[in-house]
Amino acid sequence: MLWLILVTATLVFGRALGQNYTVTINGSASHPIPSTLYGWMWEDINSGDGGLYAELLQNRAFQQVTPQTPGALYAWSAVGGASLSVVDSTVTPSLSTALPNSLRVQIPPKTSGNIGIANSGYFGINVNASWTYKGSFYYKVPVGSTVKGSLTASLASSSGVKLASASVTIRSNATGWTQVQFSFKPKSTPSDTNNVFSVTVDGASTAGQTIYFALFSLFPPTYKNRPNGMRLDLARVLADGQPGVFRFPGGSNLGQSIAGRWNWRNAVGPLTNRPGRLGNWGYINTDGLGLKECLDFAEDLGMTSIMAIWDGYAADGETVPENQLAQYIQEAADQINFVIGDPAKSEPAALRASLGHPKPYPIAAVEVGNEDFFASDTYAAYRWRDFVGNLSVQFPNVQFMATTWIDNPVLNPKAMLYDLHQYSTPTWFAQNSFQYDYYPRDGRKYFAGEYAAISTDPNNLFGSPSQGRMLWPTIEGGFFTSFLPFRIESQVRFIGSVGEAAYMTGLERNADIVFAAAYAPLLQNIANYQWTPNLIGFDAGTVYKSTSYYVQKMFSLNKGDEYLPSTIPSQSGTVFWSVTRRTATKEVLIKIANTNGTPASLTFNLPYATVHATGTATVLTGAQTAGNSPSAPDSIVPTTTKFNAGKTFTYNAAGWSVDVLSVVAY
Ligand code: AHR
Repeated sequence: MLWLILVTATLVFGRALGQNYTVTINGSASHPIPSTLYGWMWEDINSGDGGLYAELLQNRAFQQVTPQTPGALYAWSAVGGASLSVVDSTVTPSLSTALPNSLRVQIPPKTSGNIGIANSGYFGINVNASWTYKGSFYYKVPVGSTVKGSLTASLASSSGVKLASASVTIRSNATGWTQVQFSFKPKSTPSDTNNVFSVTVDGASTAGQTIYFALFSLFPPTYKNRPNGMRLDLARVLADGQPGVFRFPGGSNLGQSIAGRWNWRNAVGPLTNRPGRLGNWGYINTDGLGLKECLDFAEDLGMTSIMAIWDGYAADGETVPENQLAQYIQEAADQINFVIGDPAKSEPAALRASLGHPKPYPIAAVEVGNEDFFASDTYAAYRWRDFVGNLSVQFPNVQFMATTWIDNPVLNPKAMLYDLHQYSTPTWFAQNSFQYDYYPRDGRKYFAGEYAAISTDPNNLFGSPSQGRMLWPTIEGGFFTSFLPFRIESQVRFIGSVGEAAYMTGLERNADIVFAAAYAPLLQNIANYQWTPNLIGFDAGTVYKSTSYYVQKMFSLNKGDEYLPSTIPSQSGTVFWSVTRRTATKEVLIKIANTNGTPASLTFNLPYATVHATGTATVLTGAQTAGNSPSAPDSIVPTTTKFNAGKTFTYNAAGWSVDVLSVVAY
């Protein structure tokens, strides 16, 4: 009973008392806000294939599957009674060394009608009548084939309504691999994405024949029309965040095993040269979204890159001994040369030029591994030393970033950049918005390279949803649960997005040493995912923006270029703010995170002669446990309103809100 009285008393008096703050802003900037402060971190986890990478066909080249097994045919099915089998080069010469598997399609001796193969895409295929799709595949027939008729590539609805098709004559003398390229525009847009792609022949004219296929592909229009490029809607949502930096390709997906490491050579150039690999997250990566695709995407969005190199440690625990490290250091040197080298002096740079990008790509840092605190003994003993020792001689202008804890272990050469990751509770993020205030100013800089509020249970961060793990970022948590006599949550929750916003005010205050930051993971295919929560959800046809995405966007679009010191928020409090200035527009930009349910009244004193009488507030606020999800994608979206500003003005921040105020002042 006592807890019920406490809850009631707190709700009544706590809200009535309110929260009042006075914030005096200093007009002289203490440090610049780096253009790289907010960015995106991408690795293929839930996912690039079937996600950001716009390829529509899953298992398009039978990469890394075991031939002659049913599993090798995932995403494929037979049409009209064809007999399908994935075969390797012992059965028929393969398309390339990198792609040893092909699809054998046997047409029964007595058949008629359409017969062939169908692909269900990545959990559906988005068919849009306003788009022109470009596709291709390779085929061949055995010597002596008498096959006749046409090969027809089609898109159809799940009920069999044909939406688009293109046909080519099949050649009975095509005994070597022959590429078919086609394009088509669907005649209508179906109501859902349960569509299939197929390649069929006429059964009557091909009865008893065998046809081999390899490397299928089907692309809708891509972002900036890049061939082999990015999915339009996802790329646009990422572009809308105006990111300054792009971290890739991992994350853990740098390599689960030594053999399965991300190797740039296997992720560049023609798709026929890309073998794919089993990534860290339980599925085969096509590596179609490879090194150059990442660099081009960064360029298209105006991002500079933080590019990781594989550094001799695999997530399964394998570590390359020092006497075998040279080949991997060379691999890393070649990867860096591909990005920034001189085509006249380096083969990888010449390859870049031959692929259409003679100029070097901008790069903010090269990250040596990922989360090497898991193998910090060998990192300190020789891996960091040998990689950075060698590479910094070859690339004196490149900054190398360490992935262990700071000075734990001590690294030689001294690490001047660190990537620090933080997955925790909403409470942790609010309570640790002063994390970087305590870091020494000794020339070292930091990248908050992965962070997210992922659970409300600090003792079981990576548990299941019933244990507090978030499926989607939610805006905040249950205030009164801390008063319950039994523990549902460990303490008062300041859930998800608002906690992250509080933390981000600390990133801005410390942007003299925090040069970049990125939420992680970035994307979640809701039909097939390996991790929750993620910043942006999607399925075959729709993108779902989380409240954390809106927080990222609100901060990024209003990061300004200088930090203005102001009255410091209470570290143990629940309302956090930071103040920056966009010099070009003379805007003072104030960000507020109110991490509890009580509205807060903040009075700001601006030290300027002229302050416009009206400001603009962008506000994200919502009910305690609400969030955006596929079933309610727009529950909480930012709203923009005007408020009364002036040299001194009072602004009321709603409970559980993230607010960005813009006032012109000079
Ligand atoms: O973001 C998901 C994973 O979390 C990353 O792959 C890894 O770096 C971290 O442990």
